[in-house]
Amino acid sequence: MFTLADLPDLTGRTAVVTGANSGLGLETARALAGAGATVVMTARSKDKFDAAEADIRPTNRTADLRFVQLDLASLDNVRTAAEVIRSEYPEVDILVNNAGIMMTPEATTADGLELQLGTNHFGHFAFTGLLLEPLLAAGDARVVTVSSGMHHRGEMDFDDLQQQQSDGYDTTAQYARSKLANLMFALELQRRFDAAGVDARSVSAHPGYTATNLQSAGVQLPGGGLFHKAASIGMRLLNPIVGMSVEQGALPQIHAAVSDVPGGSYWGPQGPGEMRGPVGSAKVNRKARNEADAARLWDISVDTTGVTYDALETSTGSVR
Ligand SMILES: NC(=O)c1ccc[n+]([C@@H]2O[C@H](COP(=O)([O-])OP(=O)(O)OC[C@H]3O[C@@H](n4cnc5c(N)ncnc54)[C@H](OP(=O)(O)O)[C@@H]3O)[C@@H](O)[C@H]2O)c1
Repeated sequence: MFTLADLPDLTGRTAVVTGANSGLGLETARALAGAGATVVMTARSKDKFDAAEADIRPTNRTADLRFVQLDLASLDNVRTAAEVIRSEYPEVDILVNNAGIMMTPEATTADGLELQLGTNHFGHFAFTGLLLEPLLAAGDARVVTVSSGMHHRGEMDFDDLQQQQSDGYDTTAQYARSKLANLMFALELQRRFDAAGVDARSVSAHPGYTATNLQSAGVQLPGGGLFHKAASIGMRLLNPIVGMSVEQGALPQIHAAVSDVPGGSYWGPQGPGEMRGPVGSAKVNRKARNEADAARLWDISVDTTGVTYDALETSTGSVR
C-alpha cells in the first residue's frame, strides 16, 4: 500500500503542479516538496500562492516553493506561464496536470471555448505541449494528468464537443467529457512518447471522492440555476460523510508522479466504486482506450489550441 513514506528522495528534481493552491494540488505540492523537490506551484494569483505557501511552510521550513501564475482558461496566459517556466527551468522532471473545475454554469474561456473542456483538457493539452522541451531535457520525466471516476460517464460527441448545438447545457455531461478527455490525453501522450522513442512517461490518476473545494467552487459560480444551488447544498452535506481526506485522496496522483509505474498506467482508490481506499490500479473504460478517438481528440486539440508537439514527430513526420 503506497504511503507518503514511500516517496523517493527528490532532491535536485523540479516538479510543476497546476492548481497547487488548493485541495489535491496543494497536497501534492506539499508531498513533493517534503521529498526535496523544487516545486513550481501554479495558481491563478499570487495571493492564492502565498496562502498555500503559508500552509506548507510551518511543517517544512526549507521547502523550495516557487510561484508561476497560470490561468488555464486563457491560452495566452498558458503560453506566458509556459514561457516563464521554460526560461527559468531548463529541466522539468514532473508535471502534474491537476487543476480543474466541475459542474460550472454554462460559460466560456477567454478564447470562447466551453469552460470545463477548455480549462480541464484544452488548457492542460496546451500547457503540456509548451513544456515538452524541459520535460524531454530532464530524462525519464513524468507527466501525470488527473482524471476522475466520472470519465466512465463521459461521451466524446465529436459533432458537438463543446455543446454548441445542444438545447440546454448539461454541466455534468460536460465535466465527465472533460475527465474522459484527460484520460484519453494521458494514454495518447504515452503512445506518442513510445512512437517517438523519447524517455518520458505519461500516467493518470484519480482521487475517488475527496472532500475539497471542487464540489462547491464550480456550482457556486455566477449564472447557476436551481440545479446548481441544489448540487451545492447536496455536496456540502455529502463531503464530510462520503469524501476522503485530502491527504488520502492525493495519494494516487502522488504515487503516479514518483513511483516506478509503467507509462500509460492509471491509478486510483481500490474501495467499492473506486470512491475511497488505498491506491491501486484503476479501471480504464473502453471509451478511454479507443485509440482512433484519442488520435482524433489530439488533432482537434492541436487545431483548437494551436499547440503542436513537434518534438514528438517521428522522422516520417507522423507518430502513427
Ligand atoms: N475532489 C474530488 O473528489 C475529485 C474527484 C475526481 C477528480 N478530481 C480532480 O482533481 C483535480 C483537483 O481538484 P480538487 O478536488 O483538488 O479541487 P479544488 O480544491 O477546487 O482545486 C482545484 C484547483 O484548480 C484550480 N483551477 C480552477 N480553475 C483554474 C483555471 N482556470 N486555471 C488554473 N487553475 C484553475 C483552482 O484554483 P482556484 O483556487 O483559483 O479556484 C484550484 O487550485 C481536478 O482536476 C478534479 O477534476 C477531484
